[in-house]
Formats: sequence, structure tokens, C-alpha cells
Amino acid sequence: MLIRKPADIRPSEITSEANYLNRRDFMRAGAIAGGSLLAAPGLSAVIPDGRYARLADVAKGPYSTDETPNSFEDISTYNNFYEFGLGKSDPAARAENFRTRPWTIEVTGHAEKTGSYDFDAFMKPFDLEERIYRMRCVEAWSMVIPWVGVSLAEVIKYFQPTSKAQYVAFETLNDPEQMPGLRGRSLDWPYREGLTIAEASNPLPILAVGIYGKVIPNQNGAPIRLVVPWKYGFKGIKSIVKIHFSETRPKTSWNMAAPGEYGFYANVNPTVDHPRWSQARERRIGTGIFAERQATLMFNGYGEQVAHLYKDLDLRRNY
Ligand code: MTE
Repeated sequence: MLIRKPADIRPSEITSEANYLNRRDFMRAGAIAGGSLLAAPGLSAVIPDGRYARLADVAKGPYSTDETPNSFEDISTYNNFYEFGLGKSDPAARAENFRTRPWTIEVTGHAEKTGSYDFDAFMKPFDLEERIYRMRCVEAWSMVIPWVGVSLAEVIKYFQPTSKAQYVAFETLNDPEQMPGLRGRSLDWPYREGLTIAEASNPLPILAVGIYGKVIPNQNGAPIRLVVPWKYGFKGIKSIVKIHFSETRPKTSWNMAAPGEYGFYANVNPTVDHPRWSQARERRIGTGIFAERQATLMFNGYGEQVAHLYKDLDLRRNY
């Protein structure tokens, strides 16, 4: 992963929130008029409130932090989404016309229920919740993001993995026509990630479809992306098209690219440094480039919920 200073983002590359919302408002209103969003109760849900598309029926979920969330502007203009380029402002600039409808999610492998699901049909059984989580990138910056999503544990339960399923693997869309970054060899595409079934069944992870109560911006992984708050941000795979229940540990993108730097587990751990930088502290985006870096917490502060998952694991070796 490249580390760029916020100063590297040219102001001209940043879409103002008002412009951004106006454009989305227009696009969503069109989609709703076309009827494509009316099918799923979860996203029935997606209604324009006059100014922009707001998700309805969002319950307050558990585990939210009371830390101040980053601004919508920060969250939607400082991104990692290499399919749209390596720069932090590339995804916002280049994913504007990314097509998130129609969208199909394929569920395969060791589960009682498998198949190809239209996004709305996929979402239908699940309830939307707000979860305000810290996100710690392996590059040593962090944000607080008010996500809207569905519990991954509920999704896993719904598809009924068999006893053979030890892992769940995810893949991002691989469409070079829409994703200019795929022409580069920064990663072995498609972007892939995975969790153990025990991790995926923990109540913390979500599949996110919104931010700040609104439909998730394309650059943040529309229409649906993974959020695992105790792990480094690269585990949070965006724009998911495949979910596979696997007996063996799946290959994951950053681990394949640099196995000595990025492990499969990727739990936030201030005591295990990246070979090229310390993980002891982090820069909270939005606090200004001169603000003091804050201490990084073990499991990103979610140890109470997840430390038991790793009690028999040497976290120094299984980084
Ligand atoms: N998913 C895909 N498909 N491609 C990516 O490049 N980057 C990851 C993760 N998910 C990435 C991805 C990294 S390194 C981080 S830190 C987070 O997305 C950033 O999420 P955000 O842009 O919504 O803050």
C-alpha cells in the first residue's frame, strides 16, 4: 500500500458534499422511478428525502463507539480502492459512474443455501442497523465511520454453512471496463478477502450498504462491502460479488502480494510492527496533519468482543 500525505490530494479532485449528493439524488431518484429499488424491504428503504437518498428503517445497532465520527467529506474522499487507482482521491474521482445496479451476488461452496442473488433479493431477509465503528488502516491512519449494514453473522446463519465450511471468502467485481485500476498490476485481481467461520459469526462484522444513513458512496464499496472493525482496513473488501464457504483457507489479496507484510488474520495489533513502519500509533483523519498521533489499541479496542477467538493463537506469528 502506498502512503500518501493528505497534502497530496489536490482540492480540485475533491467533490464537494453538496455536488456529490445532488448527483446521487438524481441517480437514485431515477433508479426508484424505474422500480428497481422497490423490491427489497431492507432497501425499500432507499427513498429520496428531497435532498438525497436516505436509507429508512435503520435500527441503532449495538457496539457503536461514542467517538466523534469523521465527516462525510473525509469518509468519501480519502479512500483506498485500488480498482480505481492508487491515490487516495482516485476512487472519489473515478467511481462516480460505477454501475451498482443490476448487481448479482453469487453464494457458493459448503452451505445448504447457495445460488445467484440479485442484490435486492440478497438483502431482503436482513435488517439494517447503524454501527459506528473505528476503522484502522494498516497504513497507520484511522477514521470513525457511521455505517449502515446488516450483521454478517445473520447472513452466515441464513445460508447455513455445513460442518465442512471453515472459512468464508469474498471477491470484488472484476470489470476492467469500469475499473481503470485493473489495468495496473498492483494486485492479483479480483480483490479477495476471507475470514474464519468463527470470525464471520462474531456479532461485530457487518456487510455495509450505507454511511451516515445514506446509500454507500461508490468509492466506499457500493453496493455492499465488508466491515470488520478489529482488523486492518484491507480486510474490508468492497463491492462484493462472490461469497464462498470453503473448507480451506482462501487466498487473500494483500497476503498474496506481500506475505511478509500482510497476514491472513490482520488483527489490529500495536505490538506487531509492519516491517516498514510502527503500528503503535495512528493518525486520526480530520484532526489536522500536526495533531498528535493517538495510541493504537489491541484489536482496535474491540478485544472484549473478539480476544477469545485467538486465545490459542500466537499473534506474533499469525499476524
Ligand atoms: N476493497 C477492494 N476491492 N479494493 C481495495 O483496494 N482497499 C482496502 C479496503 N477494501 C480495498 C478494498 C483498504 S487498504 C482499506 S484501508 C479500506 O478498503 C478503505 O475503505 P474506505 O475507502 O471506505 O475507507
